[in-house]
Amino acid sequence: MSFGYRGRAMRTAAVAAMLAVVSAPVMADEIFYVSGAVGNAVENFKTLVKPWEEATGHTVTMVPMPASTTDQFAQYRLWLAAGSADIDVYQTDVIWAPQLADSFVDLSEVAKDLAPTHFPSIIESQTVGGKLVALPIFTDAPALYYRTDLLEKYGVAVPKTWAELTTAAQTIQDGEKATNPDFWGFVWQGNSYEGLTCNALEWVKSHGGGQIVESDGTVSINNPNTIAALEQAKAWVGTISPGGVLAYQEEEARGVWQTGNAAFMRNWPYAYGLGNGDDSAVKGLFTVTTLPVGKEGDPSAATLGGWNVAVSKYSTKQEAAISLAMYLAGPEAQKQRAIAESNLPTIVSLYDDADIAAAQPIIPQWKDVFLNAVPRPSAPTLGKYAEVSSKFFNAVHATLSGNGSAADNLAALEADLNDLKGDAW
Ligand code: GLC
Repeated sequence: MSFGYRGRAMRTAAVAAMLAVVSAPVMADEIFYVSGAVGNAVENFKTLVKPWEEATGHTVTMVPMPASTTDQFAQYRLWLAAGSADIDVYQTDVIWAPQLADSFVDLSEVAKDLAPTHFPSIIESQTVGGKLVALPIFTDAPALYYRTDLLEKYGVAVPKTWAELTTAAQTIQDGEKATNPDFWGFVWQGNSYEGLTCNALEWVKSHGGGQIVESDGTVSINNPNTIAALEQAKAWVGTISPGGVLAYQEEEARGVWQTGNAAFMRNWPYAYGLGNGDDSAVKGLFTVTTLPVGKEGDPSAATLGGWNVAVSKYSTKQEAAISLAMYLAGPEAQKQRAIAESNLPTIVSLYDDADIAAAQPIIPQWKDVFLNAVPRPSAPTLGKYAEVSSKFFNAVHATLSGNGSAADNLAALEADLNDLKGDAW
């Protein structure tokens, strides 16, 4: 009897030892993370996640996606609709939460201590029907970048209105083109994608033309101020901006700017740190200000951007995926990202962090800009935002390309958006 007991005990111990050996590697998960590739984000990602990998024993593999958020969204929607378990954690744009909410895990319970350290408005933008769909990792609000050396050289003042910007860009371009045929006055994002929605919303809003669809769901886009804003932008194409701007996204604009071939650029804060990098031709020669307005006294409008992390409900590695999302949204990772990528944190206290302020002065300087930034109408248009935005940027792109007048294109857009809306969004 006792022998039998000992035998069973020995067998149990042997099985336990075997399981321990087997379970160690099973516990270490490889998390697949998808993100668009802009700036130095892919390069920095390895450094960013290293402390988490070391602390948990898990690993992260980043699957880089196209830079365009519009293209990313289309791909993610396919994966999620198919219930794919290939991707565990998605990096999500601030505008996506209402459309993808059903595919992601509710993070409100696990983040109940972390979420209150973030700006409440950003947490709110990621909350759909009480569910915290994604955790913020950085926020975004664009700046007008300008060359301090060239403004001084031509005796040009920092422009406050779009009309002043047009004149300033033309003056500097006329002077610089004499020795540099590749030089342009103003670069921005004119490709037909979400980035054009952001640029055009800024022109429209700062001319008093509204926000495309208002927070009560009204389609407001067809009005004289919007027409004036688009006509003004159209006049830039081929004059102060290259014809090719109609194919530019963020990185193409930054490419022209950072090689020293533009006086002004509209871009997000990520371009600030890179512009001051050792390989940049404009290092130490530029600064930033808020985007111009339609007429003096109007409020400047910066479109609210930003990125988050969401855990797929189809992930078979939930625990590790959630732990990674919490880490990336937490203070350590946000600080690293702020310093290495000049991304604006979403954690309130990081705006008083001396290391961040010293490395990237744009960050404390930009707090009020992003707090006053204009949201795109993703909340009022619910699941239809992607279609609303694509109809908007297509109408704007057509206008900028000379394919129909601003007045005609906006009248057609208004009708289209009202059709899409039907009785209610
Ligand atoms: C930036 C913003 C994002 C926006 C995108 C448009 O990445 O953070 O919100 O949709 O630019 O190109």
